[in-house]
Amino acid sequence: MTSGAKRIKVLMVCLGNICRSPTAHGVFQSRVIAAGLENIIEVDSAGTADYHVGSKPDSRSMAVALKNNYDLSAQRARQVCQQDFEQFDYVLAMDRQNLADLRSQCPSAHRSKLFLFLDFGSSKIKEVPDPYYGGDQGFEKVLALVEDAADGLLAHIKERDLA
Ligand code: 4NP
Repeated sequence: MTSGAKRIKVLMVCLGNICRSPTAHGVFQSRVIAAGLENIIEVDSAGTADYHVGSKPDSRSMAVALKNNYDLSAQRARQVCQQDFEQFDYVLAMDRQNLADLRSQCPSAHRSKLFLFLDFGSSKIKEVPDPYYGGDQGFEKVLALVEDAADGLLAHIKERDLA
């Protein structure tokens, strides 16, 4: 990569950064690698809360992801910080509460970077349901919604930022 090449930074955000946003991080990273754009698009994830800082993704999220060839095991939870709003180009909330929490912390100059992740998907469902207190089906549903939105997000970035 030349030093002047454009880089696009994407941050996936949920509450705990152990279920939904690590799944979104892993799936979107995989799409970026498949497109050969790993030197252009950077992906990370974080939580609005600090409950699980330093933890691996939830074992149920890792299992469902791995069954579909996404390895989340190197990820560790962290909390969103002020620098994230400056450094990332897209800050993508998994649900409306996450988005409201991000809006309340985000300087007004950077608010245009905040979106619901599923706004990039083709589903009518606009929030990734929190699977933490539910059964395995919830984790499968998270993965399906995330895969769909990851495809839409990559297409959007290619058109808006990389064309
Ligand atoms: P996530 O799920 O926001 O998708 O990582 C949750 C993880 C932990 C908790 C809630 C949601 N919790 O209450 O500890």
